[in-house]
Amino acid sequence: MYNIALFGPPGAGKGTQSRKLIEKYNLAYISTGDILREEIAEGSDLGLQAKSVIEMGGLVSDEIIVQIIEKKIKTNTEVNGFLFDGFPRTVVQAYILEGLLLKLNTSLNCMVSLEVPQDELMERMQERSKKENRIDDTTEVIENRLKEYKNKTIPVAEFYKEKGICYSVDGVGTLDEIFERITNVVEQSLTKTWLNVVLFGPPGSGKGTQGKMLADKYDLVYISTGSLLRKEIEKGSEMGLAAKEYVEKGDIVPDEFAIKLIEKQIQTHPDAKGFFFKGYPRTIVQAYILDGLLRKLNSSVSCVFNLDVPTLESIKRLSVRSKTEKSRYYDMDTDVIIRRLESFQTRTSPVLNYYEKQKNIYNIDGIGTEEEVFERLTIKLELAFKNAR
Ligand code: AP5
Ligand code: MG
Repeated sequence: MYNIALFGPPGAGKGTQSRKLIEKYNLAYISTGDILREEIAEGSDLGLQAKSVIEMGGLVSDEIIVQIIEKKIKTNTEVNGFLFDGFPRTVVQAYILEGLLLKLNTSLNCMVSLEVPQDELMERMQERSKKENRIDDTTEVIENRLKEYKNKTIPVAEFYKEKGICYSVDGVGTLDEIFERITNVVEQSLTKTWLNVVLFGPPGSGKGTQGKMLADKYDLVYISTGSLLRKEIEKGSEMGLAAKEYVEKGDIVPDEFAIKLIEKQIQTHPDAKGFFFKGYPRTIVQAYILDGLLRKLNSSVSCVFNLDVPTLESIKRLSVRSKTEKSRYYDMDTDVIIRRLESFQTRTSPVLNYYEKQKNIYNIDGIGTEEEVFERLTIKLELAFKNAR
């Protein structure tokens, strides 16, 4: 999902530019101002409560706003994302939006702030008052709206500046010029949106083979906690020595190790297009950890693949590998192979449920040639990327 908030003072052109933006990016349009005006026209309870405030140029209460936003978000699930116009308008609303999007496992990607001098704003709204019949487009009320904007709404821009996703755009010029400026910053922020992929599958399902090819093709940083751990073990680092005991038995290593390794990988690739996680998360706890880790960086898991391979086939493949130079020391011992498969079944399979609830999981048939499986994966990956951005 890709979510944009259009920000700016009354008359800045938010509504005007929104129409073109939702079409270009296939977003659901949420304008709190429009919704409130509809409620007023319908004469609903909510409309009645809002009317007196809007007439004065004040801000409607956050309680009312949260109700209308929640309703609107819930009824628009089949879109690429949302375009918010005139929301969030207070810092409280900014926090509310964080929470609402968190529930959908997404976040605000970009806030575009339209900058227009006050004289021009006044002129535009006075002009609009001749065409549209808005109850709040009189000089006195406009002045109040501008005052409210300065006092309560400008701090919202600060909130998003701190998150590094607030982009200022010159709002003076022709409609097309401004639209181009906006799409430029949107594209810029799109490239900053990481695409994070998780690849699952039992031992021997081909995660390593497919994972590396996929990460290469889509220019994602490949993170295999298993091979990172093996490197630590080879280096004989403090972590390596501690991890060795677990790995040799075919057990899952303590969570702190993987967290440190993943954080380090992410930190050393600040300009990444995204990350490809192979062999992580392996437990529900790790699924929560990964979500938390990415959330901290204003990102999330974009899609999850499960390579489906029957147990017997896994055993056959591992047994073949054990006789080649690619053999791992934990391939040599049947007991260890069985423990790894067991651990996958008991601890990793529940993670699939976790992602099934988030609805971003794809089951991929892992039987066939490398090329066949790769093709199945790329088709779904491209689909998932389209949805993620
Ligand atoms: P809302 O409807 O959101 O109004 P607003 O923020 O005051 O903004 P406007 O709709 O007046 O301006 P706009 O930026 O959309 O500009 P437009 O494209 O129309 O909110 C109304 C009220 O509802 C609030 O005061 C509040 O009471 C309440 N409310 C809403 N959301 C709330 C929230 N989240 N919390 C609390 N209360 C809330 O353009 C303006 C004019 O300029 C148009 O005539 C247009 O044709 C023209 N124009 C546009 N672009 C250009 C250009 N480049 N050059 C020349 N003219 C242009
Ligand atoms: Mg508007």
